[in-house]
Amino acid sequence: MSDMLNIALPKGRLGEKAYGMLADAGFSCPAIEENGRKLVFEDPEAGVRFFWVKPSDVAIYVERGAADVGIAGKDILLEYEPEVYELLDLGIGKCRMAVAAPCGCRGEERHTLRVATKFPHIAQRYYASTGRDIDIIRLNGSIELAPIVGLSDVIVDIVETGSTLRENNLEVVDTIVPISARLIANKSSFKFKHGAVERILSGLSRRVEEIK
Ligand code: PRP
Repeated sequence: MSDMLNIALPKGRLGEKAYGMLADAGFSCPAIEENGRKLVFEDPEAGVRFFWVKPSDVAIYVERGAADVGIAGKDILLEYEPEVYELLDLGIGKCRMAVAAPCGCRGEERHTLRVATKFPHIAQRYYASTGRDIDIIRLNGSIELAPIVGLSDVIVDIVETGSTLRENNLEVVDTIVPISARLIANKSSFKFKHGAVERILSGLSRRVEEIK
């Protein structure tokens, strides 16, 4: 196993923020700051290699050991329940998983509630806890469209600022769980690269405290 610590970062704004926290904690790779299409960056002296990964794939890279650690949203961890260690709440990428519906219309008259979502497992668990009969309609994006065009009664989706809901005349009916970005680690890396993983964890923990 390489001594290099492999870090999977979610492509996009959240990943850039997380990289900023890692760089402030002493784990940087200056070449990563040049915008381009390159996906792997390494700094042999610092002993780190960064990958840019589709946000919903970070946990897969970490679970299978292609990355030792990664930054993943709690939404993905709840949905896929990967076999990884969740080490730290970074306090960034804050949003919530919520049920939303067209204003004033919650599908209460329906026997089986049609729920559109990218998160079928989270939705299933939530409705199992309420005892409501549901029919899950799994979509890949633009979930807010589903109740507008009659594909579903409600949606289970991420709400950050709430502007997507507002602009589409939808409202939150219930909050399921708060979401934020987490540092996760591969279980065997946690054991065999413990020193390096621990350094990342303590460096990031300090940054989290500083920005609180
Ligand atoms: C996410 C989510 C909502 C939106 C919420 O979508 O699915 O649509 O952000 O943010 P807001 O409350 O600040 O408006 P994303 O941009 O990831 O795209 P998607 O349509 O592919 O899910």
